[in-house]
Amino acid sequence: MAYTLKINGESKSLDVDGDMPLLWAIRDIVGMTGTKFGCGVAQSGACTIYVDGSPTRSCQFRVEDADGVEITTNEGLSGKVASTVQKVCTEMDVPQCGYCQSGQVMAAVALLTENKKPTDSDIDDTLAGNLCRCATYHRIRAGIHEAARQLEAYDMLFSQNNPLKAGGIQADRRQFLVGSAAATGGLLIGFGSPGPVADAATKAATPNPFHAYVQIGSDNKVTIFSSLMDRGQGAYHGLATLVIEELGADWSQIHVTGAAGNAKLYGNLMWGGAAQGTGGSTSTAGSFDRYRIAGAAAREMLVQSAAKSWGVPAEDIKVAKGKISHASGKSASFGELASAAAKLPVPQNVALKKPEEWTEIGDTKRRRFDTAPKTNGTHTFTIDVKLPGMLTTVVAHGPTFGAKVKSFDAAEVISLE
Ligand code: FES
Repeated sequence: MAYTLKINGESKSLDVDGDMPLLWAIRDIVGMTGTKFGCGVAQSGACTIYVDGSPTRSCQFRVEDADGVEITTNEGLSGKVASTVQKVCTEMDVPQCGYCQSGQVMAAVALLTENKKPTDSDIDDTLAGNLCRCATYHRIRAGIHEAARQLEAYDMLFSQNNPLKAGGIQADRRQFLVGSAAATGGLLIGFGSPGPVADAATKAATPNPFHAYVQIGSDNKVTIFSSLMDRGQGAYHGLATLVIEELGADWSQIHVTGAAGNAKLYGNLMWGGAAQGTGGSTSTAGSFDRYRIAGAAAREMLVQSAAKSWGVPAEDIKVAKGKISHASGKSASFGELASAAAKLPVPQNVALKKPEEWTEIGDTKRRRFDTAPKTNGTHTFTIDVKLPGMLTTVVAHGPTFGAKVKSFDAAEVISLE
């Protein structure tokens, strides 16, 4: 049956069963994956949305009941309270894996909209139904207090009587411009062989750490292939730090993606190198040299390419914050030199920075680069991935404890290829 739902201010027409959970409709039919499936029984809060402004578990709300109501998801959050909560979560590195964050942010924004100065017990009571398997509750609570403090300061600063009120608009505009620049894309030309990025990087059997670990596109994007799983422990951020330190890239250029299984390229050195795996606090120790070497090799090739193009000695070229420059005034971005640099031989012995020269490694003020997308619903989790022809397996649970299977027909499943 056809339904028209109003989601984040836009009308969406759906032809689905009326008893379909709204969560499924939002994620699988509309394609908005910021709202997460947690438990399916309204116990985890990961699927929290607003229905006419009230926090609601979308797994228990039927599509036919959503006709005519205003639905807001994490992607549709707006206003000062929402932007402050998301900013604070990012600045304080509140999420760990981030899977629960969409629901946590929805609950926190609703709380602070109603209650400008919540106590610990207000927060605990309101968010009691929002579970975090990483147990970041102390950080969530601290984040809400900090957001409340900033909102109070904001209200005071821009109250009707404050002469500085007009300046507030500029702060928002600056944030918008930064976001737009970061979102600009372009054609990706990597150092690896042509084809999908993951293929080029992970199918090459040659143990060349540069090809398999770092790729620089003509769009100036630096892609780092992580040999490690990141389930919120920060491995992606750690590897990015190692590469940036030696490469001289800017954080805004960085994208980290999981590399496919290839023990030859990604074997965990702390386990002898024969198996690719994550665990035992070995991620940084096992990757410390090779990801720095990859970054240093990439920088060396970019510098050699610039020296050749500009007719200047390589030693006189500087690389910092994603820019290659020479005292003569010549400069280029990584993307501009990536294609020419890719034609140069990969240096086999590169000098690494000394610890006293490090500016990124050990910088305790640096916030994790992957926190912001976890708070605004744009981070891609495994459950958000859709591939052509992909099938989804769903475990059917008995409706009561102790229930037993009476019968089932496996023919359809067995016939699958
Ligand atoms: Fe809450 Fe991982 S489930 S941060």
